[in-house]
Parts: sequence; structure tokens; C-alpha cells
Amino acid sequence: MIEGSKILVVDDNPDIVEVLSDFLTLNSCEVYSASTGKEAIEALGKNNVEIAILDVQLPDANGINLLDTFKLHDPTIGVIMMTGHNDPDFIVEAMKKGASDFLMKPFEIDKLMLMIMRVFKQRELLLERTNILQKLGDTKKIELLNRELQKKITELTTMYHISNKFNSCNLFEDIYERTVAIVNEILDQSCGYYVMDNEKSELVLYREKTKDNGDIAENKIFLSQDQLNELNSSRKHFVRGDKLYLPLTIKGECIGFLMVQAHMNGNKRNGRFLESEIFFLKLIAEKASTQIENRMLYESLFESVLHTLRSLIIAINMRDSYTDGHCRRVTGNCLSLVDRMDTISEYEKDVLRVVGPIHDLGKIGIPDAILLKPGKLSDEEYAMMKGHSVYGEEIMNRFDILANEAKIIRHHHERYDGKGYPDSLAGTDIPLCSRIIAVCDTFDAMVTNRPYRTALKQSDAVAEIARCKGFQFDENLADIFLEMVRDGTWE
Ligand SMILES: [Fe+2]
Repeated sequence: MIEGSKILVVDDNPDIVEVLSDFLTLNSCEVYSASTGKEAIEALGKNNVEIAILDVQLPDANGINLLDTFKLHDPTIGVIMMTGHNDPDFIVEAMKKGASDFLMKPFEIDKLMLMIMRVFKQRELLLERTNILQKLGDTKKIELLNRELQKKITELTTMYHISNKFNSCNLFEDIYERTVAIVNEILDQSCGYYVMDNEKSELVLYREKTKDNGDIAENKIFLSQDQLNELNSSRKHFVRGDKLYLPLTIKGECIGFLMVQAHMNGNKRNGRFLESEIFFLKLIAEKASTQIENRMLYESLFESVLHTLRSLIIAINMRDSYTDGHCRRVTGNCLSLVDRMDTISEYEKDVLRVVGPIHDLGKIGIPDAILLKPGKLSDEEYAMMKGHSVYGEEIMNRFDILANEAKIIRHHHERYDGKGYPDSLAGTDIPLCSRIIAVCDTFDAMVTNRPYRTALKQSDAVAEIARCKGFQFDENLADIFLEMVRDGTWE
């Protein structure tokens, strides 16, 4: 059982060291010896000693102090104290300090063997206990690390979801509605967006999304001038009662607040916000602010581009007064028509608002001799005139942000039966906005006097639209337009 055990024998009496060493070596132990405290400590440092047989009285050290050093080095080491006196005080003190057993000099070598086996067994139990405690400690550490890791993963996943939801928001979506919906969806909390009314010292509810689709309690939040000044200057989130207010800022200016209401979860939450929730809400407020700022920049750029394009329409109008009025009326009729449609998006309505007034922009490239010709155009002249839809697209394509609008302009003279220009597109291959413009454009051209012909009577123009539906025009759109004319809601 003790074969291979590493045993250190410490005694200043070389005879005792020799006897013990021989005996232990004979029993296949690995034996180290020392005659002083210093040598004993050196031997301990060099070898993985399992059991020490330690004389209590050494020339340079006290046995009790050495016992302390041994246990400090390795708490599992088994120490047998050798003493010539049966001193109870000493034994109690040594036991308190971790001595495993006591060998009274002179000793019987056979008893020593039993003692070593017993101490060795004790050490094994101690090692086992230490290992179990170590494992328990490791398990707890792993559990703690796992919890931390899980928390981090949840945090990163939530951050990713927030970013993703903002990044996937297109330019035509209501960013305020999207923001309150994100708060509601990701954090499961009721949220309202309030705009600042500095003159009235109040925050006015603009968009809301509640947990139960009900209403947020306050439509308006009144503030004192001091509170308002504080909000404007600090631009930091703040908590009042169970509500958290997060400012949305553009270029350092506060434009409004997200108000989030902490939901009750038994008594645990007590209507308070967790640190992680505040972190995510601040992220949402920052993302929303950035989106709003980007939109403002985009809209400013868009408006500047449209202003340039409208200037071109004015230039055309200086040459041909028909174009301006025509474009205005066509736009009005397109918007009236889409108001009667169930299946059109807000985005397409916006596109029509932009494209309607400039759909004949390409006429800037048509020579006066053709544009203003009082008589019928020759085939060659008509071919050039037809080029205006492509010229219009080419001008629009100079502005990257108008790519879709450019396409609508290119196709506004296509026919539903594929016999139009410039690409002979047919049916729903023609963009919806182009099909809408085609109906309104043709009708307006028919009922307007031109230098080369007088206007058709309204009834004849209506009959022409009805006759051409399904061929020249999208039948459904033509029907809606005819309904508009019947109702008198056209320009
Ligand atoms: Fe046109």
C-alpha cells in the first residue's frame, strides 16, 4: 500500500535517520532525509513529499514551526511528529496545527509501518476531499462563467436585433412608429414618442405602441420652464416614477423624447428599470436619432435635386406654356386616382408626387421646331418627340437617389398591350406609377387645346379612355379614372 510513497525523514540523529531510511526503502518507499530544518525545507521544495517524519527538536528549528511550514507548503502532507516526551500540551498544539500522528522515541519499527499506512490513508482521504472541493469550486466558477457568457450572448443578440431592425428600415417608413415598435417588441415595454413644444413647455405624444395595444396614459406632459431648460441642456436620459425619458438629439439639439413605461412584474420589478434595459433603450434612442438625422440630410439633398429639376420644367414652360399646367394637372389626377386604390403603397404615392410634376422633363432636349410646331409632326419629328421619355430618364439618372423615379419617367408612354415606347413593355411589366401617369397624361392631352389641334370634348376623351382600356391602358386604372371623371374629382 505504501510502495512508491515519497517520505521525508527529518532528524538530527543520523542513526535514527539511517534506521528509518533503510526500513522505508526496504518497503519500496522513495526516501529523502534531512538533519536540520533548513535541509528539510529544501528537500520539501525539491520533492513531491507525501509524508514527513519530523523530529520535534532540531538544531536550527522548532518542530512546531517546521510543521507550520510543511502544512503551508502542502496542506495534504501527512506529518508524523517524533518526540521523546509525552507532553499533552505539545500534542494538542501539534494536532491543532495539523500533525497526523505522534511517534514516541524509542519506537518499535513495526508500529511505525502501521502508523505510516494510517497516515497515508488519511492523506488520501484529504486529497479526495480537496479534489471534491476543488471540483465544486470549479463547477461554481464554470456556472458563473456560463451565466456571464449567456448574459453577454443575450446582450450581443439584442444589440444585433436592434441594429438590424433600424438598418432594415427603408427611407419611406415612419421612423418614429418603427422606433416605438422596436422598444415594444424587443423590450416588451410600452413606449411613446413625444415631440417638444418649447413654446407651450410641453411634450406632445406623437407615436405610441403599448403592450396591450391600448393607449399611453398621457397625451401631453407638461413641464416647467426650468425642467424644459434642464432637459434641453442635459440631453441625458432621466427617470421619473416608473417612466424613463430618453432624448432624441440631432446635432446636439433635442427634438423629442422616447418615454418608456416600466411594466410591473409582480413585486420584483416594482416598476423600476434594469441597468441592461436602460443600456438597450439608450442604444435604440441613439439609432433612432441617427436614422432621423440621415433622413433629414437625405430629404435636404432630395429637395435640392428636385428644385433643380423643377427649374428645368420652368425652362420648358418658358418655351411651351402647355407643359407646366399639363404636368400640374396630371399630378393632381394621379394623386386623386391613387386615393381610390386599395393596393398602392405610401412609397408609390410619394414617387408619384415627385415624378408627376417632372414627368415630361425630357422635353428640354426637344428642339423648339418640334416642341412648338403648330402642325402635325412628321414621322421623323414624332420619333424625336418620343425621345423625351428617355432624355428625361437620362437627366434623372445623373442623380443616384432618383433611380426609381427615372425608371417611371422612362416608361410613362408604354402601352398596356406592349405597343408603346421606348421599350414596348406590356401589362404589369410596366411600373405601376408609369401606368397611372399614362392614363392621366393621355386624358389631359386630349382635353387641352394645342397649337396643332383643338381639345376634344370631355365626353369624347372619356369615351376614348373607355375604348382603350385593356389595350392602351391598364383596365383597372382606366376604370378608376373614369369613375373619378364621373364623380367630378379630376382637374
Ligand atoms: Fe410625356
